[in-house]
Amino acid sequence: MIGSRKLYVKSFGCQMNVYDSQRMADTLAPEGYVETTAPEDADLIILNTCHIREKAAEKVYSELGRMRGLKETAAADGRNLLIGVAGCVAQAEGDEIIRRAPAVDIVVGSQNYHRLPQLIARAEREGRVVDTEFPIDDKFDHLAAPSRAATRARGVTAFVTVQEGCDKFCSFCVVPYTRGAETSRPVDKIVAEVERLADAGVREITLIGQNVNAYHGKGADGRTWPLSRLLERLARAAGIERLRYTTSHPLDMGDDLIAAHRDLPALMPQLHLPVQSGSDRILAAMNRRHTRADYVGVVSRLRKARPDMALTSDFIVGFPGETEDDFAATLSLVDEIGYAGAFSFKYSPRPGTPGAEMDDQPDEAKKSDRLQHLQQVIDRNQATFNRGCLGRILSVLFERPGRHRGQIVGRSPYLQPVQIEAPLALIGEIGAVTIMEIASNSLFGALAQEPALAAAGA
Ligand code: 5AD
Ligand code: SF4
Repeated sequence: MIGSRKLYVKSFGCQMNVYDSQRMADTLAPEGYVETTAPEDADLIILNTCHIREKAAEKVYSELGRMRGLKETAAADGRNLLIGVAGCVAQAEGDEIIRRAPAVDIVVGSQNYHRLPQLIARAEREGRVVDTEFPIDDKFDHLAAPSRAATRARGVTAFVTVQEGCDKFCSFCVVPYTRGAETSRPVDKIVAEVERLADAGVREITLIGQNVNAYHGKGADGRTWPLSRLLERLARAAGIERLRYTTSHPLDMGDDLIAAHRDLPALMPQLHLPVQSGSDRILAAMNRRHTRADYVGVVSRLRKARPDMALTSDFIVGFPGETEDDFAATLSLVDEIGYAGAFSFKYSPRPGTPGAEMDDQPDEAKKSDRLQHLQQVIDRNQATFNRGCLGRILSVLFERPGRHRGQIVGRSPYLQPVQIEAPLALIGEIGAVTIMEIASNSLFGALAQEPALAAAGA
């Protein structure tokens, strides 16, 4: 172990990056790196980047501009600050980063985080390094597990990557290129990770993957397990009270997975199921491989299995060729489904994707108009969904102290933040909360009954 050095990791983009950032910190902990929240104190800064839209990628370069100043300040103090770029921008733009950002010492692709200790040593010895190969060996076999203390500090909910990559090739999306083909982690590795998390106090697990419901991992019985079977197994892990998974593709919502929402009480009645557009013409141009009716059919089967299912989605406005009628179809789909919330984005042409080559790219003003309009309709849907919770008693997993003294915050089964006045000792517990008020998408309530404090003091 080398003396203590400070590590600052900043995550951009999706939850997979948040998870990967934690794994990088865990891998560097035995090397003597301690995490800091202050970049100016760091000896190593890693930016874990996102390439999904142009804005996300550009953010990285402006952040790297700022980092250059930090590096110069550190050098004036006689310290050598190393800067690493990880994640999808690293994977997609490897050498270009080195060219555009002179402050960068290490570029590491999303499959190579387990090699970070060697890359750091090489950068210190030989200067700037780029490692964006897709290796044959599985990074998860080499990435260190978090210590019990690190897990505890991260809270009572955790993400676990079960699947990476995507084979769908939606015509707007870089993921199949940056994250590669679909791969699934074996069941026993996931179960072991979940049991370790549960042992350290985690109560809720969200299984994550770019296309998580296409999961097909090897089970202990030698067979390929679908996500439904993995969920059923994890629901039996001691201490795990709640399960979620994200992000899903409508085509992979099989009957077995829908039935799991009926049969597994631990599986929360909430699903992020991006549709992107409500127009069949645009769905076809996006190569989504499903129609609007297919999507509506999946949602109605889900709601038959679990009537209170809360749905969220992603939408893209201004895809090439999108007419007023196509856009109107998206608006009408939002109202037809009745979403609990949704993300919406202006289409951003990504180099190397088929969408970027298409004619009839809508102009910026049109995209902005449509985005604003769509967001209004989504907000209305969300407000309606939240209003429907007023007066109801919801089970809430308390996660952390609230903004004000005496408050704690948790999540409802539908993933809404819920604030109550209660002692901090309830963090990690699930309590029944009567919802009394709603303000800016947070629910406020009071304990309907004291939860049994089984784990208190444990
Ligand atoms: N432009 C705009 N939004 C995009 N997304 C993916 N690629 C693009 C793009 N090129 C959105 C999709 C996806 C979410 C993660 O990001 O809605 O579901
Ligand atoms: Fe991208 Fe489509 Fe794969 Fe989702 S399903 S990651 S949008 S290609």
